[in-house]
Amino acid sequence: MKANELREKYLSFFESHGHTRISSSSIVPENDPTVLFTTAGMHPLVPYLLGEHHPAGKRLTDVQKCIRTSDIDEVGDASHLTFFEMLGNWSLGDYFKEEAIKFSYEFLTSPKYLNIPKDKLYFTVFAGDNEAPKDNESYNIWRSLGVEESHLFFLPKENNFWILGSGVGPCGPDTEMFYDTGKPACGKDCSPACDCGKYLEIWNDVFMEFYKDENGKLSKLSQQNVDTGMGLERTITVLNGYESVYDTEIFAGVKEKLEELSHLKYEDNKKSFRIIMDHMRTSTFILADDHGITPSNVGAGYVLRRLLRRTIRHLKKLNIEENVLGTLAKIYIEEYQNIYDELKRNEEIVLNELTKEYNKFSRTLKDGERLFYKTIKHLENNILSGNDAFKLFDTFGFPIEMTLELAHENNLEVDMDGFNEAFKLHQEKSRTIDAGSFKGGLADTSEASIKYHTLAHLLLATLQEIYGKEVYQKGCNITSERIRFDFNLDHKLSEEEKMKIEARVNEMIQTNTPVTFAEMPYEKAKEEGAHGTFENKYGEMVKVYTIGNLSKEICGGPHVTNTGVLGHFKIIKEESSSAGVRRIKGILEE
Ligand code: SER
Repeated sequence: MKANELREKYLSFFESHGHTRISSSSIVPENDPTVLFTTAGMHPLVPYLLGEHHPAGKRLTDVQKCIRTSDIDEVGDASHLTFFEMLGNWSLGDYFKEEAIKFSYEFLTSPKYLNIPKDKLYFTVFAGDNEAPKDNESYNIWRSLGVEESHLFFLPKENNFWILGSGVGPCGPDTEMFYDTGKPACGKDCSPACDCGKYLEIWNDVFMEFYKDENGKLSKLSQQNVDTGMGLERTITVLNGYESVYDTEIFAGVKEKLEELSHLKYEDNKKSFRIIMDHMRTSTFILADDHGITPSNVGAGYVLRRLLRRTIRHLKKLNIEENVLGTLAKIYIEEYQNIYDELKRNEEIVLNELTKEYNKFSRTLKDGERLFYKTIKHLENNILSGNDAFKLFDTFGFPIEMTLELAHENNLEVDMDGFNEAFKLHQEKSRTIDAGSFKGGLADTSEASIKYHTLAHLLLATLQEIYGKEVYQKGCNITSERIRFDFNLDHKLSEEEKMKIEARVNEMIQTNTPVTFAEMPYEKAKEEGAHGTFENKYGEMVKVYTIGNLSKEICGGPHVTNTGVLGHFKIIKEESSSAGVRRIKGILEE
């Protein structure tokens, strides 16, 4: 089975069971300053899991683009990927365990769908602890479907309880589905909990009925939800009996191109090939995202830079010296263009940015070499310290392999233990950033954050009044303390301009205009002139928030009900965010 077929089968199966198909959300979570990328299908749906009404209904199905970079250094093995697609079905306060498990079992075993032999499937359920009870209900449902006792395992929280990396938000016990690869058991205690490779997880049904707060306290949500996630790449790997995700057709085009360019074989150079195949795909999706992320030294831009620089380094290892990044990106753009239309739409941006970063990195390599020689002039012995090597890597982006190579040429040693220690510290830091502390479609749904959310609509309306309709929102970060709003504009704001924006926003606030919303098809919203979201929602029901005749935007909400409650808007900073993009930081005062 191929990826395209699995995607379609999954979505149409759930459609036939009353689910509405919704499109993937952006790869960057909206309005959430605490996390760099969407790491699970759940990210964009948090407000609805908490009880907001979703315009497409209570049963949804989707394929969500996800990025997880905390294991970036593992990429190169058979299974790790930094980008993946997550197939999901959702019950927002509708069905719960029984139907969810029945759907999963039918999809896995029915000859019309995945047709997996029943004896190949194993299941785990939550064993319970002092916070949440043992999930006998799920166990009994699997048994009622004919699953043998020997194919069912009760496992503790670390295996069978799901929450976002931050450890805060909607969560609950889950039941996971595993495929037996047929490899021999690694010992008498071998189970799906074991990572020896015998059992591979393909699907996870999470029963989200709890909310975990910042203090770690678990409480019941107002509704019982189901969030399921099936990793697309991993599932087609398993279904086809492949050894590795990189054997799937998804990577075939780029693999072939790399063999052609390098005159080397994938089989003999798996690690570099895999790193390039993975990182180029992730980078292409990040660059094509409408948020306009470009390589930089902070946040998502830094992750992108690392992915690209690592790609270039591994291309060099394959003796490919010229810039082929665009050639490789184009293969992915062709492959995915019918599913994710931002790829074609933003192709030019993707290709330009790739060339810019390639040229920049070439300069870095030259500068790094210069700095290396400067550093070694001051050495007291023939050892380059771990800190110096790390500084070259971290501050100047100079790869450690290059440092080792140059050290070798100059009869020096590198304190690799010291380097690894510094590197580990840095990694832990970036893991924390990656996990973030995601709390919802808004960073949180506190009254203060909701006010900033409505402010964002007024700010966009004001900017469009002043600079024209071609100004649009490039990104927005909200906390309960401030708003950070990015928009496209070709110049720095003068003092007068800032004052004019503040004054107009405050004028809008003082009109005490009610904020209302209606649900309608995406096409109708566009016809009515509603400003869009980053995502394409053709054929979907959306929410449109209207603020009198001031603003009309497609948006999930929530919002305040009247502009009058916002208080007084003040710009505290205006700066450049990236080329052609300005960033306003603002606050609301009583
Ligand atoms: N949220 C769960 C996961 O990411 C199921 O979608 O595995």
